[in-house]
Parts: sequence; structure tokens; C-alpha cells
Amino acid sequence: MSILRVREIEMGYTETGRGTAVALLHGFPFNRSMWSEQLEALKGSHRVIAPDLRGHGETTVTDDAATMEEMARDVAALLDELKIERAAVGGLSMGGYVALAFCRLFPHRVRALILADTRAGADTEEARRGREELAQRALSEGMEAIADQMLPKLFAPATLVDKPLVVERVRRMIPDTNPVGAAAALRGMAVRRDQKSLLPEISSPTLIVVGDEDALTPPSEAEALHRGIRGSRLVSINGAGHVSNIERPTEFNSALTDFLGSLEP
Ligand code: MLT
Repeated sequence: MSILRVREIEMGYTETGRGTAVALLHGFPFNRSMWSEQLEALKGSHRVIAPDLRGHGETTVTDDAATMEEMARDVAALLDELKIERAAVGGLSMGGYVALAFCRLFPHRVRALILADTRAGADTEEARRGREELAQRALSEGMEAIADQMLPKLFAPATLVDKPLVVERVRRMIPDTNPVGAAAALRGMAVRRDQKSLLPEISSPTLIVVGDEDALTPPSEAEALHRGIRGSRLVSINGAGHVSNIERPTEFNSALTDFLGSLEP
């Protein structure tokens, strides 16, 4: 693990391997450790950078709404520090919102795009209210309460029954997130812009991945991304829920390596 000062924050990140750069952006309220199987799968062929986004893991917590644009600028500044001009940029869920914001702000830096278990649309009013309630709960009751609330919705039913170690790993990640950082991310997600009009502008090769039992960002969202982004590839992962890369790493990695392998050098 390394830490670099970028913009006004300290940013924790893991870097492995050599070759074409790939930046992997985690979901909420997790940290870069959610990508450990993907780092392992890619380290022989790619230079992978997995940062902790603002307010998560080892990265500085800021208490204003952490917008998707702010997080995307942090990632761009980290890539600058690492002398990486262009990268394949991938994100799961909130990481996908950040990847789309990155794409809008820095299109020339996106070698390819990977959108996993995410959506292009903004929050509804009801979703915004739910986020504010969750933010208040994180601040008043702590992250264990957030883990209890979120956990059942994160996985496919079969994962909850058959893969207790996977469920435990994800449960342990949540209390590692600072409640102030979590509240800032929730408030940032609540005000995120609708990115649907960006989709036809995206010219980078794009992979869209979704767990076929994702209850939070269901396959219909992935299909909408696929329809919106010309030439994109859609892979649905059987028996996976919202954290498809952790629930079904073999299938997820094979989609990822096939896609990255198909890119021209
Ligand atoms: C995530 O996994 O990053 C979150 O579920 C995203 C969201 O709440 O919209």
C-alpha cells in the first residue's frame, strides 16, 4: 500500500504489475481491498492502480459532500503523480459513477471503460431522502449499523447461504469506513448528475458487467448502459448480486481479461 499527496488530500492506493494502466474504483462503503482478486488476475499483464476514494480506506476524510466529480479529479491527480496519461478506468457501483464522471471530465485519458453493477441515471427524490437518512444513521449509530442495513441487499441469495466467508469479508470492510467519509460520499451520490446524455459521446471501448441477481443496480440498468454506449460489451454474471467481482471472481476476471486482451496496444 502507498500513500501520495494529491490536491489537498492524502490518497491511499495499491499498485501492481506492469503494462497498460488500469485504474479500478471501488464501491460504497468499501475500499480498494475489494479488488484483490482482480489485482491478482491482472498483475502479470497490466499495471493496476486501485485507489481508496476520498473518505474511504486510507484516503483523507472530508466532511462536505464528496461529489463524483471531486473523486474523479482526485483519481486524475493520482494518475498524474504516477505519470499515467491514459488508463482503462473501471468502477463498481459508486466507482462506476466516478468512472463516468472521469469520462466526462477527462475523455482523452480514458483508454477503455469498465462499468460494473452501476447506472447512468441520477437519484430519485426518494433515493436522495434514503441517502440522507443513511448518512444520519452512519453519523449517529456508526458503520456497524450501516453494515446491518446494507448487507442483505448486496448479495445474491445463494451467496448469503453458500459463501459465508465472502459475506464476512464484505461485512468487515464496511466498519473500516469512517462514518464522516461515508456520509460525505452518500451526500455526493445524492447530488450526482444524470449521465445518460454522456453515453452516446463515449467512444472508448466499454465493458459493462452485472450480476444477474443484482438487486441494487439491476440488469435493466446495465442493459440501458449497453444500449447507450455504442459498441459496448455486456456480460451478465450468473448467480452474482451487487458485488459481482467478489461473489464470482473467476467469471468477473474472465470478462475483464477477455475485454482488456481485446484492446489494441
Ligand atoms: C455502491 O455499491 O457503491 C452503492 O450501492 C452505490 C449506491 O448506493 O448507489
